[in-house]
Amino acid sequence: MKLWGGRFTKATDKSVEEFNASIQFDCRMYAEDICGSIAHATMLAKQGIISQEDKDAIVKGLKAIFQQIEDGDFDFSVELEDIHMNIEKRLTDAIGEAGKRLHTGRSRNDQVALDTHMYVRREIAAVAKLLVKLQESLVKAAEKYSDVIMPGYTHLQRAQPILFSHHLMAYFSMLSRDFIHLKYAWDMADMMPLGAGALAGTTYPLDQPFVAKTLHFGKIYDNSLDAVSDRDYIIAFLEFAAVLMMHLSRLSEEFILWSSSEFKFIELDDSHCTGSSIMPQKKNPDICELVRGKTGRFYGHLMGVLTMMKGIPMAYDKDMQEDKEGVFDAIDNLKFALTIYAAMIDKMTVNGKHMREVLESDFSNATDMADYLAKKGLPFREAHAVVGKAVHYCIEQGKVLQQLSLQELQAMSPLFAEDIHHYLDIETCVKQRNTYNGTSPQSVARQCQSGKAAITGEQSQIETWNDVVASVYELLK
Ligand code: ARG
Repeated sequence: MKLWGGRFTKATDKSVEEFNASIQFDCRMYAEDICGSIAHATMLAKQGIISQEDKDAIVKGLKAIFQQIEDGDFDFSVELEDIHMNIEKRLTDAIGEAGKRLHTGRSRNDQVALDTHMYVRREIAAVAKLLVKLQESLVKAAEKYSDVIMPGYTHLQRAQPILFSHHLMAYFSMLSRDFIHLKYAWDMADMMPLGAGALAGTTYPLDQPFVAKTLHFGKIYDNSLDAVSDRDYIIAFLEFAAVLMMHLSRLSEEFILWSSSEFKFIELDDSHCTGSSIMPQKKNPDICELVRGKTGRFYGHLMGVLTMMKGIPMAYDKDMQEDKEGVFDAIDNLKFALTIYAAMIDKMTVNGKHMREVLESDFSNATDMADYLAKKGLPFREAHAVVGKAVHYCIEQGKVLQQLSLQELQAMSPLFAEDIHHYLDIETCVKQRNTYNGTSPQSVARQCQSGKAAITGEQSQIETWNDVVASVYELLK
């Protein structure tokens, strides 16, 4: 008999049962469901809605169920539809009458909202930790390779020399914004929906602030209809995940290019690559390709929930059960991607010597030559034209700019003097770009410093989150 079977005279069709169920995936929220129920039962007893004895039996029974699930000693049943009814049924089987009082003043609509809020909060704390670990790997690599100069690109054409660490720290900045995104997702998830009932609130004198305090929520929803039907926090998390994956996908693309024989800028560790079943010489960057490839499904999850939400009437509709699988998939894949990327960066080798050779055989210092003339008084547009001709001349002669003699140069502009060769030197080119966020060693060292300070701030935020999460799960002890 279904928990809601009273008004029915026929059994549910088997395929309807299976299609309707969410236990296949929402079973992972068992700890949240049990914590939420413990808080709810405790509040019901405090308010005199159920007896102390019933509450004690419920809490004891729920803790035992938690242990059974942890021990793998719990068969989730599709017949019981979802995690909420699976647990409630087991509780009632175990403790009888008292178990049937647990759902007083509560609906699965506010219950599932509560569980998902807590689950997302917990996973935000876990993902944040891995995100910061990746940031640490980036700074560590930036400091380790602080003297490596590489060609910087625009349009994937060599443009100007930059520090390899400058390039890495660009990704650090992206991840810092991802952390801000994550903080926003936390704030959206940190709202307590229980007490909204099915949609309109309940007729019992519930103490919602007490439940919010027990479950360490920062806020309580102002409006019960909104409480049961808000999925903005899920969208916020999926937005965070989609943008983070976009960033990782860009990095993946670069790692794929850089580790190719055409570039040879880096080599990924054997432990992070795979081979080919037919071509014995191959070492493939599958992980990078997978991260790039999986980004699409992250966008899909975000689009899925946005689209699911756009047309449904207030308040809860079953469509909303579709909010979970995308989030779960995003969480699982993000954890993998972040963990592997941190290790991949720690273990990669960087071929600075080859990057230097590339730079010395090319025209990445052409802007510097134009700047040289402009600083001597020639209008920049004219300087640009002079250097353009010099490049053309070099290509014809099979030379690069720094190989031109002073005589050749002075034939192009009398402003050239002895010191031009110093200014064409790759080291000088980099050092000279000493604007606040430029590629000079000084600027990049500052970026690394402020990056480390940002990490410290993020870590203390994570600690606060972890304290919240840990305090909630204390209820299970
Ligand atoms: N499994 C449902 C979900 O995930 C739980 C809420 C069901 N509510 C209801 N009125 N049928 O959304």
